[in-house]
Amino acid sequence: MKIAFIGGGVMGEAMLAAVLEKGLSTPQAVSVSDVDEARLKHLEQKYGVAVTGSNRQAAETGDVVVLAIKPQNLAEVMTELGGQLKSAQLVLSIIAGARIDTLSLGLKHGCIARVMPNTPARIGEGVSVWTATAEVSEQQRGWASSILGAMGRELYVDDERYIDMATAVSGSGPAYFFLVVESLVDAAVKIGLPRDMAQELVLQTMLGSGHFIQKSGEEPADLRRMVTSPGGTTAQALLHLEKGGFSQLLIEAVEAAYDKAKRLGG
Ligand SMILES: NC(=O)c1ccc[n+]([C@@H]2O[C@H](COP(=O)([O-])OP(=O)(O)OC[C@H]3O[C@@H](n4cnc5c(N)ncnc54)[C@H](OP(=O)(O)O)[C@@H]3O)[C@@H](O)[C@H]2O)c1
Repeated sequence: MKIAFIGGGVMGEAMLAAVLEKGLSTPQAVSVSDVDEARLKHLEQKYGVAVTGSNRQAAETGDVVVLAIKPQNLAEVMTELGGQLKSAQLVLSIIAGARIDTLSLGLKHGCIARVMPNTPARIGEGVSVWTATAEVSEQQRGWASSILGAMGRELYVDDERYIDMATAVSGSGPAYFFLVVESLVDAAVKIGLPRDMAQELVLQTMLGSGHFIQKSGEEPADLRRMVTSPGGTTAQALLHLEKGGFSQLLIEAVEAAYDKAKRLGG
């Protein structure tokens, strides 16, 4: 499969590395364009792919054209690529907030898949939520599914609104998790644990608990009750979190991210 990446930043590279590693494409069949010459040099040296400063040139060759630029650069890229793509090329956009009708109008192109990936994709542990227009063929859906599957789990949805919702949950989610880990490590150090030990305890607790939810098939609330003995230490900590409005704050944070994702779409 020939793949063109428009934008070779953090997520573009994660996707590029995944498709090469899984053998979905070869370095000879991949081209990348970016405005940042240092990025291009890095990608050329590390992966042996063709690089160019011209988005048009890169896009010419792809069966799949991945849009991996930031939302604020979309208008200029659409001006450049508008009307240039062949109808059989699949555009795979990972741009947060960019709606399919905006992409379709700006690119004068109908064959589009819109995706929300997340950064654990860099180690093959991501989750991507995606949807596609009616023009996307079965074969192209298969391509999209295998490219996204190379980065972790992939979930197809019929309703584009789920993409903005996923942006607030799984797209931004790793940052919420990192903040929780950071804060717990700081708390552990504050009560006297050495930092490296604190980090190991917190991380393994988070990973173990995540796997526990997944493997046990039980509801998180039931697992939480299981470790909350009446009058015990966990009950004390949970009471404190609820007094501070922890759950409500998380709900409001996700709603704020969702509102922002919708506003990015104009
Ligand atoms: N990172 C995440 O967690 C994440 C998760 C899900 C989705 N996404 C989405 O993925 C997209 C890419 O994110 P990212 O984190 O990979 O961003 P990034 O690291 O900033 O990568 C974007 C790349 O595109 C380049 N670029 C800017 N203008 C360009 C243009 N006109 N033509 C070609 N290349 C251009 C940038 O160069 P300069 O840096 O020089 O501008 C940069 O190298 C975003 O739309 C984001 O919403 C990101």
